[in-house]
Amino acid sequence: MMRQHMMQRILMVSNRLPVTVDTSHAPYTLNRSLGGLATSLGAVGQVYNTVWIGWAGNQKQLTEQQFIDLGLPSNLVPVNIPKYPFHHYYDRVANAVMWPTLHSMKPPIQTRASDWNAVRHVASLFADTIISRLERDDIIWIHDFHQILLTMALRARGVTNKVGFFLHTPFPSPAVFATITNHKQLLTSLTLADLVGFQTKRDETNFIAALKEANLKPSVHMQTGVFPIGIDFDLYANAHKQLSVQTHYEMLRNKFKEQYIVLSISRLDYTKGILKQLESFTKAVLEHNLHHITYRLIVAPSRESRIEYRRLERKIGRLVHTYNRRLERKATQAYISFEYRNHSLDEVSSWYRLADMLLITPSVDGMNLVVKEYIAAHPKPGTVVLSYTAGAAVQLEQAIQVDPHDTSSIADGIWRAYSISTLERKDRWQHMRKNVHAEDIFAWATSFVAALQDAESRHR
Ligand code: G6P
Repeated sequence: MMRQHMMQRILMVSNRLPVTVDTSHAPYTLNRSLGGLATSLGAVGQVYNTVWIGWAGNQKQLTEQQFIDLGLPSNLVPVNIPKYPFHHYYDRVANAVMWPTLHSMKPPIQTRASDWNAVRHVASLFADTIISRLERDDIIWIHDFHQILLTMALRARGVTNKVGFFLHTPFPSPAVFATITNHKQLLTSLTLADLVGFQTKRDETNFIAALKEANLKPSVHMQTGVFPIGIDFDLYANAHKQLSVQTHYEMLRNKFKEQYIVLSISRLDYTKGILKQLESFTKAVLEHNLHHITYRLIVAPSRESRIEYRRLERKIGRLVHTYNRRLERKATQAYISFEYRNHSLDEVSSWYRLADMLLITPSVDGMNLVVKEYIAAHPKPGTVVLSYTAGAAVQLEQAIQVDPHDTSSIADGIWRAYSISTLERKDRWQHMRKNVHAEDIFAWATSFVAALQDAESRHR
């Protein structure tokens, strides 16, 4: 058990809380939230005194008592977001404009004034909830792109507490960021924070350039910094000791006996490069005559209210079928096994343990924590094929890095990882594991909070 730092309380703020209330049918249930942000931030509460404010995923409005009855922990404070602003704020601005733009992709829609009014409205709901809990010495730590306007809403209400903002996604080039209708206001809001943190130097440089292009001087007091997020290393490294994980692992091992396992795990998202990955795996198998090999593709449902996500899921399903038929005709015992559902931590840990190779090829990614989880959880040296455009590639130089836009590069990476010598595999693995261990979630939180505490505030 980690000891809590004896210091200021932190109000953590993110769009999504680490738990999601499913209100689609009665009785309502409380489930674990998906995505790197929710999974890792939970660990911050082990070392700091935190209160976490955010949306609990409920599509229907719930009373305080209903949240209590569902067992919502008292340090999680839910923000009810009414249906009207929610659709504009989350489905349209956050998921159909901000998300693709931050990943340097073209948004499927254009925003209207009503969309941004809704974003401001939601920021004011968050600001009011924060203020209702705020004490003089609290520090406020805002996470991710959904709440870029929140700092402005807080300052407009006279909040003088230290505010830190951390962007979990990439920050694109200034020209790409400027395609967002409201980009100047978003940047202005960020300059009102005391510290703005990014995953990589590339993101920080792009942000500073965007301020310059927008003629916004970075305030002398606002600081920026690079804080690559990590994972709770021990949680994953010790998972295989749990009886439930052992049982599940044995079951998988029997089922996939004699098979070389290539594993890919992600949320359903077009930034994750799943379509190219499918093609590349098939290419590698056929070109190099690989046999007794299974590519396990685990995709967790996500953002299904957006049509482009629903379409992507159907397309993956069709491609898996097509490529499996091709493999069946031309290869020996090589197939793609696709599963589209949420997996528990036990299941994921068992897969991490079983997999000989992890294949992570997003077109671009803020960090990608799956790769770090695999490195912590797989007890023997394994191999990692990783896009050079994922934030994690900066720290994991020893991964086999590939160009996610080029199927030949990914296929070649798969072949290199498959045929790597034991010595080289061990050597690369040791370096990566050391890094994932040292730069874990606690190191990340501690360095961000220390930098925020040191930042000289002009707001008080
Ligand atoms: C990414 C984002 C997170 C987000 C997560 C899941 O990791 O950076 O902010 O919570 O995806 O997406 P969702 O839309 O379900 O919250």
